[in-house]
Amino acid sequence: MLNGERKISRPLRWAMVGGGRTGQVGYKHRTGALRDNTAFELVAGAFDIDFERGRDFGVNIGVLKDRLYPDYETMFAEEARREDGIEVVSIATPNATHFEICKAALEAGLHVICEKPLFFTTEEAQFVKELAEEKEKIVGVTYGFSGHQLLLQMRAMIEQGKIGDVRVVDLQYTHGFNAADEGDKSNSAQKWRVDPKVAGPSFVLGDLSTHTYYMSQLILPHMKVKKLLCDRQSFVGSRAPLEDNAHVIMHYDNGAVGTMWTSSINAGCMDAQRIRIVGSKASLEWWDSKPNELRYEIQGEPAQTLVRAMPYLDENCQADERLGALHAEGLSESWANIYLKFAMAVDAKERGDEETLRHLVYPDIDAGLEGVRWVENCVRSADNGAVWVDFE
Ligand code: NAI
Repeated sequence: MLNGERKISRPLRWAMVGGGRTGQVGYKHRTGALRDNTAFELVAGAFDIDFERGRDFGVNIGVLKDRLYPDYETMFAEEARREDGIEVVSIATPNATHFEICKAALEAGLHVICEKPLFFTTEEAQFVKELAEEKEKIVGVTYGFSGHQLLLQMRAMIEQGKIGDVRVVDLQYTHGFNAADEGDKSNSAQKWRVDPKVAGPSFVLGDLSTHTYYMSQLILPHMKVKKLLCDRQSFVGSRAPLEDNAHVIMHYDNGAVGTMWTSSINAGCMDAQRIRIVGSKASLEWWDSKPNELRYEIQGEPAQTLVRAMPYLDENCQADERLGALHAEGLSESWANIYLKFAMAVDAKERGDEETLRHLVYPDIDAGLEGVRWVENCVRSADNGAVWVDFE
């Protein structure tokens, strides 16, 4: 169980690009990184495209004024001159900027934590992976709910044969907040999401399903998608060529099959990220709206609800527990878990501790690269008329 005690020798000096006053996701980064004040300290920022607003915001949340910068280039250059300069930077800006900022950060000798979808192309992701290797730096990707410990419980139970052979992987990440085109022109965060120049080659496939796809890989580390078929459409026509709805069918290398439904036009749905893994003997199901519970359904027996924090859970699941039984946990704890693992990865990398890095389960550069590959393959299939394509 986690109680905030240090996992690394001292907090890492951390900065953010984006994620300021008007940013949707910035606070989630800070709740994650600063939950254990033994992991990160926020010492600098280029929080906003508008410098004055970003500086005002930074001062407001306690960052020293002289470490608030007009842009990331200035921040990386100025911080590099300081003995106590930043060591890690998080990137919480719109998609089109991720690649150039990631590259600049690595070139400045920084570890990087970047938002999803990581980049537009696998070539960019491969380039950054090689650059990170050359610079001996960590690149983490913030698939926010992937730090939830019950996903590790699913991984452990499947590994132990508790559901038999995996046959069906049923994934869903949908909501209904874009059922109409309200906000497409007025809400700045929604506006860029339907503009291919800023969002990239997809809307919901990148924005939503990359999370769930990574989570399925975390649960099923030995299964790889062999081929897939994707059908995507924009029910709100002005969003074309980007999709607000998509269905994907997958064939895995071990003979299992899968589906992903991702959508932001699932009218009336507040949020449904569901993962159901069907095996030859039993099924497991987790739903992010009820994150404290895991359904375990053995064929022919009454269904069981496994509850977070209980002693019958696997040790790897228990290790990421924060609040103990009786109290609900959710997204904030999940972000805190992935940020803690980012800190442990950075620390291990700095110490040359490859053994720790091999065993740490967190969304790393390969997870980011896989997310980009996923989107690329889905788009290739859909844009060729929803045909089967080999997963390249
Ligand atoms: P947003 O549009 O709400 O905020 C973007 C922020 O970045 C704004 O504050 C803007 O001023 C700032 N910004 C833009 N360019 C900048 C630059 N060059 N330098 C400094 N600041 C800059 O966008 P939102 O929704 O917060 O999304 C940001 C990223 O986070 C996207 O890649 C998105 O896909 C991802 N995201 C991830 C979530 C998750 O659960 N992991 C949830 C929501 C968004």
